[in-house]
Amino acid sequence: MKPRLLILGASGFVGSHWARAAAAQFEVFQAARHVPGDSPGWLAVDITDRASVDAAFEAARPDQVTLLAAISDIDRCQREPELAERINVDGARNVAKACARTGARLLYTSTDAVFDGTRGYYREDDTPTPPNFYGETKARAERIVAELCPDALIVRLSLVLGTSVTGGGNSYLEKVMGNLRAGNEIISPTYEYRNPLDAGTLAAILLELSSNRDARGIFHAGASDKISRFDLALAIARHVGAEERLIVPQTAPVPGRAPRGRDDFLATDRLAATCRTPIPACREVLQRALSGVDPPVARTDPAR
Ligand SMILES: NC(=O)c1ccc[n+]([C@@H]2O[C@H](COP(=O)([O-])OP(=O)(O)OC[C@H]3O[C@@H](n4cnc5c(N)ncnc54)[C@H](OP(=O)(O)O)[C@@H]3O)[C@@H](O)[C@H]2O)c1
Repeated sequence: MKPRLLILGASGFVGSHWARAAAAQFEVFQAARHVPGDSPGWLAVDITDRASVDAAFEAARPDQVTLLAAISDIDRCQREPELAERINVDGARNVAKACARTGARLLYTSTDAVFDGTRGYYREDDTPTPPNFYGETKARAERIVAELCPDALIVRLSLVLGTSVTGGGNSYLEKVMGNLRAGNEIISPTYEYRNPLDAGTLAAILLELSSNRDARGIFHAGASDKISRFDLALAIARHVGAEERLIVPQTAPVPGRAPRGRDDFLATDRLAATCRTPIPACREVLQRALSGVDPPVARTDPAR
């Protein structure tokens, strides 16, 4: 019999990929605040409501739980700190308490935004120094999870690239593609470096970590090298044959956008030593994320 896995935030971008991959080894129970229409077997749960969390645990009786549910939009967290606190911190506490009470093993997804990005090459034991409220809530949730569930896995993610299986959620690639399709300019910082990972590779890594009973504590997940957000957007435009002029360099922070780190590179040595899934370079990450993505505009036929 397969172990039972409850995924909180399964309707989101990362959750949709993780739910599909996890079905190979787990009996998966998908949960979100708004259950997608025509989705029998889903659980409706609001992680800010302890009774709702407890009811989901009672229904799924999970051996393992993945907590993805969060406000993951950095600027929204900055604008709506009370909501971000309620979902990202209080919600995480409710879930960690339920795991501690029932003995379910928790995998919590965190972010490179727990670091201020002033130096890059961050290791798992570096002290968090969040540059924005989103990173602050995630760093606080990490501490709560580690305290209440000492066996928990905490996986800090760099930017995740891909398109959502369910069609919704916080996918950077989908936002870029939507703008390219609409002919909109995409203003992209030349000075913000990340080591993104494609959603498929991330799902394979989460599967390995979840299946490894000895793995615990913090892991960093990202590519083996880094790329600026400007070069990333440009590479996406080139790959899909969109006009390169739509990718506009942003060379300094702009008002209204929450502060971000300049170099958030997450060192993945611990992950590479624990998992067999090879850590890809950015080039490969992009290829995997973009395979199957339709061009936003019809390519001009050079013969005409
Ligand atoms: N995407 C990235 O590049 C990235 C990078 C670093 C870290 N992460 C982390 O990875 C996790 C998943 O991110 P994502 O991009 O997949 O986010 P997403 O697409 O915005 O999905 C968020 C999920 O959380 C659910 N949710 C939100 N509030 C909830 C609540 N109160 N109760 C229950 N469910 C709730 C949403 O369901 P409803 O729509 O029904 O509310 C949705 O299923 C997050 O923890 C994020 O911090 C993501």
